[in-house]
Amino acid sequence: MKRIKTICAIFVMACLCFAMCACGNSNNPENVNSDSNTTNLVAESGTSQSDTKKDTDSSDNNKSEPVSDNKNESQPSENTEKTGTDTLVVYFSATGTTKSVAEKIAGVTGADIYEIVPMELYTEADLNWHDSDSRTTHEQDDKSIRPGIASDKLSLDGYTTIYVGYPIWWGEEPRIMDTFVENYDFSGKTMIPFCTSGGSGIGSSGDNLRENAGSGNWIEGARLNANVSELELQDWINSLK
Ligand SMILES: Cc1cc2nc3c(=O)[nH]c(=O)nc-3n(C[C@H](O)[C@H](O)[C@H](O)COP(=O)(O)O)c2cc1C
Repeated sequence: MKRIKTICAIFVMACLCFAMCACGNSNNPENVNSDSNTTNLVAESGTSQSDTKKDTDSSDNNKSEPVSDNKNESQPSENTEKTGTDTLVVYFSATGTTKSVAEKIAGVTGADIYEIVPMELYTEADLNWHDSDSRTTHEQDDKSIRPGIASDKLSLDGYTTIYVGYPIWWGEEPRIMDTFVENYDFSGKTMIPFCTSGGSGIGSSGDNLRENAGSGNWIEGARLNANVSELELQDWINSLK
């Protein structure tokens, strides 16, 4: 009987030892690792959020894609086909905003449309206004610069009203707009400038274009929102008459 009690005592102690060892394992490095894995997951999740931010940033960068879209969509030979309307929408757009507004105006007015495509397309680096050495900074700093136009020369015969659209760069019209207006005779035509921007108004750009064109009846233009509705456009157009 005493022997049985001893065996039972040894068995109970062995069980206790085993149980204690098992509990102690919760502090072993593997389990710490497992906790730190959890921590890592949280950290990864944070990283992943910051990756998402990076993704967002890079998709922002992809906003420059329309620059290359320009390249693909706007080869000179693909420009305007005349439909017999007396209204034309001419535009330059580096990243697609002015283009979409120009297309809406053309839709509302039934106008033909003509894109001013630069001889040398603007890259993302060219458009970097934070860089004092970027192409656009140099161009906007020097009012005499006239970037070349690759689009076919346009015949203005038959057009009496011409909308002229562009983005605001450093508060003014991109210099390529001056190249455009200096290459045509707008006599007898009503010229309507419009622009898109990050917030700046049309400023002196309409007057600059009028002066550089030296011909045409230039009326006061407007800054239009990127998401302007057709109704708003119609109201604006009616207000011009
Ligand atoms: C070089 C550069 C200069 C700009 N300067 C101005 C500015 O002075 N004021 C403003 O509101 N937006 C400015 N913007 C923003 C553009 O006017 C705006 O994004 C415009 O809608 C772009 O039109 P797009 O997509 O047709 O090129 C500038 C953009 C660039 C690339």
